[in-house]
Amino acid sequence: MILLLVFGTACHSQKNDKNKKEAKVDFKIATSFLLIPVEENAADVKMIIQPVDSKTSEAFYVRLAQNKIDYWVKLDVKKFKGQQLSLTFENTENSSLGLSNIKESDRFEFEYNEKYRPQFHFSPEYGWMNDPNGLVYLDGEYHLFYQYNPYGNKWGNMHWGHAVSTDLTSWTYLPTALGIDSLGDIFSGSAVIDVNNTAGFGKNAMVAIYTSAGKVQAQSIAYSTDKGRTFTKYTGNPVLPNQGIADFRDPKVSWNEQSKQWVMALATKQTITFYGSPDLKKWSKLSEFGNEMGAHGGVWECPDLFPLIYEGKNKWVLLVSINPGGPNGGSATQYFIGDFDGNTFTADNLPYPLWIDYGRDNYAGVTFSNIPQADGRRIFIGWMSNWDYANDVPTKGFRSAMTVARELTLKNNGKHLMLANTPIREVTALRGKFKTITNQSIHKEKSLPDVLSSFNGKFEIEMTIQRQSSKILGFGLTNADGDYLNFTFDLEQNILKVDRRNCGLNDFSRKYVSEPIAPLATKDSYNVRLLVDRASSEIFINDGETVMTNIVFPTQNFNSVSFFALNKSWEAQDIKIYEIK
Ligand code: FRU
Repeated sequence: MILLLVFGTACHSQKNDKNKKEAKVDFKIATSFLLIPVEENAADVKMIIQPVDSKTSEAFYVRLAQNKIDYWVKLDVKKFKGQQLSLTFENTENSSLGLSNIKESDRFEFEYNEKYRPQFHFSPEYGWMNDPNGLVYLDGEYHLFYQYNPYGNKWGNMHWGHAVSTDLTSWTYLPTALGIDSLGDIFSGSAVIDVNNTAGFGKNAMVAIYTSAGKVQAQSIAYSTDKGRTFTKYTGNPVLPNQGIADFRDPKVSWNEQSKQWVMALATKQTITFYGSPDLKKWSKLSEFGNEMGAHGGVWECPDLFPLIYEGKNKWVLLVSINPGGPNGGSATQYFIGDFDGNTFTADNLPYPLWIDYGRDNYAGVTFSNIPQADGRRIFIGWMSNWDYANDVPTKGFRSAMTVARELTLKNNGKHLMLANTPIREVTALRGKFKTITNQSIHKEKSLPDVLSSFNGKFEIEMTIQRQSSKILGFGLTNADGDYLNFTFDLEQNILKVDRRNCGLNDFSRKYVSEPIAPLATKDSYNVRLLVDRASSEIFINDGETVMTNIVFPTQNFNSVSFFALNKSWEAQDIKIYEIK
């Protein structure tokens, strides 16, 4: 529900050139926001915002309502208070429904309880979101910036949205941090704390390093000396101009103690190029990685390079998101483990491609910088969607959520070194009241009807699955409409399969309907943790050895758990179901 407080009047005018229709509406700005009515399936039109008597203007694209109003988006006009502002819409009739329904308002509030609105995962207040950006910790706050369209529920008008948290589970929205400028949209990037003031923006300045995506892609910086509340773009942008490569983006920067310089990992078509800098302003190429390594089914994006200790030794991990070309179609994140000498990354000989998450909905994930040494964790957040259908998922008012924050560690899965990921302890601390279920012997099928009814669509299930006589077994979540989400352990082939094909809304995209699979290490016993938050499922096997994240749109909340054995029998053990607070 959107609460509107409306006053003021607008005056319309129309200009009809031969080929181009424009509709214009003027406002004397007395409120903080103009609320623009949007129709999801209307054509994008250019909206030009210009104070009357001024030469400077801003422009965004918006699906201005033509036939019906699906939702409103907010245009922040505080800075124009007292002025006469005109909004010009290209390719728009003066009589268009949207034009006459623009509202002047001081409020724009949400119930935050819409169908499919996650409750313990981050989602944008309204509008479109993709990649997490600029993950950084400073003075007790975790900052989450993100790819954001404040003017609609589909990708476009890329800004950096911003939220902060003290525990990585509950978030406070802050105003948009970085907006479009003459160099282009603000694409993905990272943030660092410049402890030694190498850039000269001030000691402990927060510096954002991002891609300016205009005619070409180039890297720019902006800094904040007020804990990320406001940013100033550096006048010397771009600091790393385009080098003749179309896909040249997503800088992830960290300070390298060995080579005593800032190191940027940058996605360059289908490789990662490393650049070095003494001051975040001058960058020079160090090395390039990735030719003939790993998966190359699509463009490489959103790299991250960081060290992790394994058995007392420093190893380096390189994350690389790829789209398309994921193991189950569309977007996914692969990783490499190896060494980095301050200039060059060398991968260990491992059976690449290796994937951080085999589900279909964990993309563009990166890790926090500046986590205090006393904490020492490597904390990761991914975008819980897939470019195959991200623009079409059936949520209203907002699109997409992030994964829960996860801790990354190196472990040996019995065959080789691998990167495991598990929910951070702050997520585990969200567990509330729980039900302990006695061990269940499954011959064919067994159901625990209504066992989830009291959890309001958000819960965690834990259990142990031993290698027993049944070799194809599993469990599923169901609801009163007969939707089901099944997790099948095929211990003959050693794979985990997630079946979301018959789990509520699924006709919004052909590419969404699928049954992703993940390899399972051959073990005697599998510990299962499954987190469900209305429209998402994140399953972690054996402390993050096998992980699958898949979004789902059940027509109502899951209320029952069922177990099944496709051959012989098995016993589900140590079953606990937790409420998530
Ligand atoms: C990854 C990505 C990035 C880019 C951003 C644009 O999902 O394509 O490579 O910077 O999204 O929104």
